[in-house]
Amino acid sequence: MATLAELAALRTSLDEPVVDHLLRLTASWSLLADLSFSDMLLMARVDGPEKVDSGFVVLGQMRPNNRSTMINDDLVGTTHDATSWPLVHLAFESGTRIIGEVNVEAIADIIPVWCVPVRFDGRVVAVMVRLQGPLRGPASLYEQAYLSIFERLCVMVADSTFPFREEGVAGPGLPRVGDGIILIDGDGRVEFATPNAANALHRMGIYAPAEGQTLLELGLRVRSVERALEYAIPVMEEIDRGHDVAILFHCVPLLEHNLVTGVVTLLRDVSDLRQLNRLVLNKEAAVREVHHRVKNNLQTISSLLRLQARRSDEPETRIALGEAERRVRSIAVVHEVLSREPGEEVVFDEIVRSLVVLVEDTVLALHPVEILVNGNLGVLSTDLATPLAVALAELLTNAVEHAFIGFGGTDNDQVGVVTLNLYLEDGDAVAEIRDNGRGLGEDFSLEVPKSLGLSIVRDIIRAQLLGTIEMKSVDYADGGGTYVRVAVPLSARP
Ligand SMILES: Nc1ncnc2c1ncn2[C@@H]1O[C@H](COP(=O)(O)OP(=O)(O)OP(=O)(O)O)[C@@H](O)[C@H]1O
Ligand SMILES: [Mg+2]
Repeated sequence: MATLAELAALRTSLDEPVVDHLLRLTASWSLLADLSFSDMLLMARVDGPEKVDSGFVVLGQMRPNNRSTMINDDLVGTTHDATSWPLVHLAFESGTRIIGEVNVEAIADIIPVWCVPVRFDGRVVAVMVRLQGPLRGPASLYEQAYLSIFERLCVMVADSTFPFREEGVAGPGLPRVGDGIILIDGDGRVEFATPNAANALHRMGIYAPAEGQTLLELGLRVRSVERALEYAIPVMEEIDRGHDVAILFHCVPLLEHNLVTGVVTLLRDVSDLRQLNRLVLNKEAAVREVHHRVKNNLQTISSLLRLQARRSDEPETRIALGEAERRVRSIAVVHEVLSREPGEEVVFDEIVRSLVVLVEDTVLALHPVEILVNGNLGVLSTDLATPLAVALAELLTNAVEHAFIGFGGTDNDQVGVVTLNLYLEDGDAVAEIRDNGRGLGEDFSLEVPKSLGLSIVRDIIRAQLLGTIEMKSVDYADGGGTYVRVAVPLSARP
């Protein structure tokens, strides 16, 4: 579909300033369509003033937001015989607003129509056609008020004082008719306020009836209204009340013979938007908050498990619940770190430090074990860091839990040492866990999914992170104990 400027260049002889004016009009005229509950068309003469008989081209079309449209077809770019739009022809010729009825092919019905000359630089350059939809019963008070504003704006279109040169009065983000309107007279007094506008005033703490008062008398200083009255230009302003309420005021002056006779103030309650904006602006804080909450929730879950473990008389149940608790907490560790520095990536070192503390807390009561960490994995994607942290927690727990059974007794002063080596190698994150304990049993096999802990580790490392895991006993001559090596590709995206 061609743009207005392309169509104008192709089919009309309108020059650039005129086209700019028409562009400004179509940028603002959703306000007109909404105020009049009507479809709007913008028609220009094909090929310019000499060839009036060759008809009109539709340069723009606008549907109302608050009524269903009368025209399903897209008429932009279509040309029409002057005889099929005699009232448009008349509006061009007379330079005055023509009100009548029209039989539109596209609708196959006779409908009321207004043809408003669009004047620019003293010339009628186009005609704005309002195709009025069927009335739904007698017009309500507000509908009448809308229509009277529409009529005043039509006068401005014919006077070439609307659209405004300075800025548009409708568009994305700007208040719409349905958001709320306060009509202010030439003296700055409220003529009427729609129910939505009254709501917005309530939100600002103004409950007194507004009619007949100035906003200042009501306790609200809206500079944009004052400026619109004084300078005859549209002015926008956002007024906040505390942190929670933000109302956007868009003040559109109404002019008659170049004098401001009133201001249409469109109000929009943007409190929710602003709150959202604040959050988005402060996205970091928001993400941090989410991780913080996840961490808190996980801690709550782990406390519940602990409570439940305590209440159980079965030792097995206690142990099982206790371990579930520990696993939940090792996931919480990652969120804890992310709540401090949120992002797609996380410094894994910090997670390791927390994990070590966690494992020490859980099992050190059993016997003295020292956990040493060498090296680090730098910054990892959180997708990788979370499961890896869970797997390392399992392996460290295993070492302190199983390797040193019988250590540290009265007849034994051996000290358990668990070493965690972390490094990057060929695009892999590698973790080696080594203990100097009793080693794996004769019949130990990583592949047989006997117990939960190693099943989880296998699943995480192999299936989720597409890595490798190796586990073996170390010869007594080499210090004994167990050696575990985990390597996961950094590119893994579980
Ligand atoms: N570092 C280690 N030293 C000695 N034995 C180990 C070591 N790691 C694992 N094991 C042996 O492997 C077994 C399986 O470990 P796994 O973590 O799967 O189960 P678990 O620790 O017994 O129970 P959980 O499901 O609570 O982790 C352990 O019971 C233990 O006998
Ligand atoms: Mg285990």
